[in-house]
Amino acid sequence: MRKLDLKGNLFPMAILETQDLHVSVEGKPILNGVELALEEGKVHALMGPNGSGKSTLAFALAGHPDYRITHGRILLAGEDITHLPPDQRAKRGLFLAFQYPPEVEGVKLREFMRLACGDQGHGFCEFQQLYPKAIKHLSMDELADRELNVGFSGGEKKRAELFQAWLLRPKVALLDEPDSGVDVDAFKVIARAIRELAAAGTAVLIITHYPRVLEHVPPARVFVLNEGRITQTGGPELARTIEVEGFKAVQR
Ligand SMILES: Nc1ncnc2c1ncn2[C@@H]1O[C@H](COP(=O)(O)OP(=O)(O)OP(=O)(O)O)[C@@H](O)[C@H]1O
Ligand SMILES: [Mg+2]
Repeated sequence: MRKLDLKGNLFPMAILETQDLHVSVEGKPILNGVELALEEGKVHALMGPNGSGKSTLAFALAGHPDYRITHGRILLAGEDITHLPPDQRAKRGLFLAFQYPPEVEGVKLREFMRLACGDQGHGFCEFQQLYPKAIKHLSMDELADRELNVGFSGGEKKRAELFQAWLLRPKVALLDEPDSGVDVDAFKVIARAIRELAAAGTAVLIITHYPRVLEHVPPARVFVLNEGRITQTGGPELARTIEVEGFKAVQR
């Protein structure tokens, strides 16, 4: 059911929504009732102190089996995906760029992407057209012929994650600290790719500690997570307040 505001107008439809989401890791409750709504074609930011549960939320949304949903639901394009396995979520257009991208030996990035694009319903021809563009756009020439993330520097891993998102064009892209460990030049490439993803209709969630990334990719909404709950929601000014005054200023 679409919600109405006080004047009776329809709220914009969220492509991804969580309702009262509770998540436990190793039997320990980490998220305690997260309400999140992400809109198509918009950039959102999720901020919060270390250990507040940002990556836990990203993993739970992506379907990581160690992150157990004990209560609440996740809706993707109106469909309840709370209990779907990660590959089914990915096929429906949910993408997670990891805070710490894992190294996968024996699989070249190029091959990985060819398979992933097939899974997403991109025909082989479309992949052939898009792939060279993505390679050029994110300067991935040498990296794409190497095993996925194996021996990549921290910044190269982040660029490789954005390369995957840019090529896959997901409905929702959860980007867990896309700016951490990235130099200024690579950061501009990443920021441009994020803006383009949103312009192409992807709902983007940037998890970050630093408003710097948000200066380059202005968010429509900023959420603050604290002790497993969204405690504040606002516009870009909320990120600036956090930078100047710290998280204490926005905690409740
Ligand atoms: N696999 C796990 N096993 C045990 N505890 C975990 C696990 N994953 C997360 N936690 C705990 O859950 C809490 C939230 O961790 P999470 O990684 O989600 O925080 P975060 O907000 O992403 O922090 P950061 O800003 O440092 O990345 C922490 O106390 C963490 O130790
Ligand atoms: Mg984290």
